[in-house]
Amino acid sequence: MLKVQNINKYFGGLKAVNNVTLKVNQGSITGLIGPNGAGKTTLFNTIAGVYSPNSGEIFLEDNNITGLKPHELFNLGILRTFQIAHEFSSLTVLENLMMVPNKQLGENLIYAWFKNSLVKKQEEEIRAKAIEVIDFLNLSHLTQELAGNLSGGQKKLLELGRTMMVDSKLVLLDEVGAGVNRTLLNEISDAIIRLNKEKNYTFFVIEHDMDLIEKICDPVIVMAEGSVLFEGKFAQVKSNEEVIEAYLGRGMKVKKA
Ligand SMILES: Nc1ncnc2c1ncn2[C@@H]1O[C@H](COP(=O)(O)OP(=O)(O)OP(=O)(O)O)[C@@H](O)[C@H]1O
Ligand SMILES: [Mg+2]
Repeated sequence: MLKVQNINKYFGGLKAVNNVTLKVNQGSITGLIGPNGAGKTTLFNTIAGVYSPNSGEIFLEDNNITGLKPHELFNLGILRTFQIAHEFSSLTVLENLMMVPNKQLGENLIYAWFKNSLVKKQEEEIRAKAIEVIDFLNLSHLTQELAGNLSGGQKKLLELGRTMMVDSKLVLLDEVGAGVNRTLLNEISDAIIRLNKEKNYTFFVIEHDMDLIEKICDPVIVMAEGSVLFEGKFAQVKSNEEVIEAYLGRGMKVKKA
């Protein structure tokens, strides 16, 4: 589904992403792990159109999408969540979901003025869709809560919900587990698995929480110092000497199996 070929992204002299080639297969939940500063978020930002790569190419289902802007990628079905959640804190959970761009007729003034009933009908459809998403994520009790009042984990669920308001093909998740308690983390990972199985989403997941990676990701790709170091099943990753060294070398805590 996604092919990244020889991507380089430099910040001045720093090779944040250094000749990365990888692919994410359709229907997979592919993990991306690696020590802090490995270049994971930079790679995501390059795929998601936030940065243009210095060189290399990115393909979505054989279409060259290198250098496309985030909104163009959005229209092609590539969505991302952020390492830090981006909710509208003074809007409710329901309103946050209804804000997701959806080729809304209401934004077109001609429609707004002359085809009021059509706009209203579409708004009702969007509201119904948002409520469906809220139910899917078990957030019904928070429908009218201001997003700013949600816990960190609930905000991550809301971000996942935003990807469900449109027909996503590929969802990039940057540290959905960060700062989230165990119970909610299980809910998030269950939601990811259900979206993958029931709605046919493909996921590319950056995560430091190895339990989450082990539970949901196959394969797992390891980056270190801008490059891909290893790819395989989590069990192989866990026992790979180079991977262990890459983590320990940076002083990261590695959980013993
Ligand atoms: N906008 C930027 N300008 C300059 N340097 C940057 C920028 N963004 C990231 N970097 C640097 O690029 C390298 C890779 O950073 P990146 O955020 O991609 O790592 P990461 O793997 O996502 O790390 P973490 O696990 O801590 O989130 C780091 O050395 C970082 O300091
Ligand atoms: Mg990062």
